[in-house]
Amino acid sequence: MSDKIFVCAAWPYTNGYLHLGHLAGCYMAADIFARYHRLKGDRVLMVSGSDQHGTPVTLRAEEEGVSPQVIVDRFRASQLEVWERLGITFDLFTTTGTENHKQTVQDIFLKLLDKGLIYKANTTQLYDAEAKRFLPDRYVEGACPFCGNPKARGDQCDNCGKPMDPLELKNPRSRLSGSAPVPRESEHFFLKLSALQDPLLQWVRKRTHWRPNVLNFTTHYLEEGLHDRAITRDITWGVPIPLPGYEDKRIYVWFEACIGYLSAAKEWAQREGQPDAWKEFWGDPSCKSYYFLGKDNIPFHTIIWPGMLIGYGQGLNLPYDVPANEYMNLGGGKFSKSEHRAVWVPDYLERYDPDPLRYYIAANMPETGDTEFSWQEFVRRNNDELVATYGNLAHRVLSFIGRNFGAKVPQPGPLTTEDDAMLKKVDEAMAAVARELSACHFREALRHIMALAQESNRYLDAQAPWRTRRENPERAAASLYVTMCAIAGLKTLAYPFLPFSAQKLHGLLGFSGDVASAGWTAQRPTPGTPLPEPQALFTKLDDSVVEAEEQRMVGV
Ligand code: MF3
Ligand code: ZN
Repeated sequence: MSDKIFVCAAWPYTNGYLHLGHLAGCYMAADIFARYHRLKGDRVLMVSGSDQHGTPVTLRAEEEGVSPQVIVDRFRASQLEVWERLGITFDLFTTTGTENHKQTVQDIFLKLLDKGLIYKANTTQLYDAEAKRFLPDRYVEGACPFCGNPKARGDQCDNCGKPMDPLELKNPRSRLSGSAPVPRESEHFFLKLSALQDPLLQWVRKRTHWRPNVLNFTTHYLEEGLHDRAITRDITWGVPIPLPGYEDKRIYVWFEACIGYLSAAKEWAQREGQPDAWKEFWGDPSCKSYYFLGKDNIPFHTIIWPGMLIGYGQGLNLPYDVPANEYMNLGGGKFSKSEHRAVWVPDYLERYDPDPLRYYIAANMPETGDTEFSWQEFVRRNNDELVATYGNLAHRVLSFIGRNFGAKVPQPGPLTTEDDAMLKKVDEAMAAVARELSACHFREALRHIMALAQESNRYLDAQAPWRTRRENPERAAASLYVTMCAIAGLKTLAYPFLPFSAQKLHGLLGFSGDVASAGWTAQRPTPGTPLPEPQALFTKLDDSVVEAEEQRMVGV
């Protein structure tokens, strides 16, 4: 039966290039998941977009002395190029700068205001007397009142993950002038989270299928008690407040960016020429929505966004699952933009193919705890696993058939128990990978795939068609055919992870068209089909890559 699956990925701030940490945090997982469900025949909508507002973007613009739009244009173009080249298949990757988004946000704002879930209040804000400006969010740094981290930002503490109000920071400093900010009055709008605590707790307590880290964080957070939060800022870059008198304030970036999941679905429907189609993914309770994000984004997606949806009350679906990942660190420390410690994705793509990176990230996905990236491990996985185990299996079988069986899919004679056992393993792997992928267990799914590749290598070695070829050509043909079936199974299984090489392998096995349209089945090659000239699927990397890349990282 075909399911409806709404795949959401966190909206990356448009203030810098994407690095491996972003991919490992959510985009790889979202793409593998979406590709798997499309292959299975489900109706999938996968959306995200550039998160182009807020202080992350304005701070960068100020550093460079340009307008925020210049920053947005530069990094949005780069984001789009990365998705294209890395094969991250969004149905729509829009931006929070559209008119449609603005309208959707303002509509929700006014509805919540109408219901008393948004209210106005006089507040005290931090003000930089030297720069003569209010200091929202990231314009202030200080010590975290919850965990003591001395370098917490005014929007969130990176150490304990708690969202922050700048006023909560201990020893605050302005990032504009370095001075200690002073308190000053300013009127703002608040989201009445305190009124949403009970419905949220009731809802969250039933989410027992969530990952333990997500569920525990969320439950603890809720049990500590929700406080109302200001959802407007003294800033002029962002979605305007739809009421007169607030021209120099904007809606808070986190409040409006989450609404992007809804506005993106509406924009997608418009573009499809079926303006109501978004309701399939938002109004049909049988549709399951999955939100992929890094752990620092958890409270916004498990508390604030569902709270807004409950408050809005138009029967829109709440998140079905929020399979948040932890971090992929770089050789012992976190990826850090400020210290230039990162592997930048556009830079990687200048020198290497997308699939080896996709593979590395999937194999080391930080699903249950932080993991590490190292160039040494990258080269090892590429050479030992992609080249030697998977690529080489296909290459030696197809070259042998090319040389000895007229470059056609061999006609198998009667199958032996060993042959049947091998074919059965393919079906078992399909079932196991399907089970793991549906549960967002990406590493485990990939483990099953590589185990099948190893199993197929063992089968081929034991059958040794290069030996049986002369005295028993029928046996040789059958074992080659069975290995081809296993490889055909592998290319389908690998497709969500390694789409580029899977497409190539699809053609090398004599199949025509698009690997994705073949569906989630163990396809069998048709005997007699002519085969193209064999080609290697992956490139072996020299060990010198490790040192060269490590040097480059120090150099930036
Ligand atoms: N821009 C945020 C970040 O990079 C994520 C926003 S997710 C959204 O951490 F849903 F709010 F858009
Ligand atoms: Zn903290």
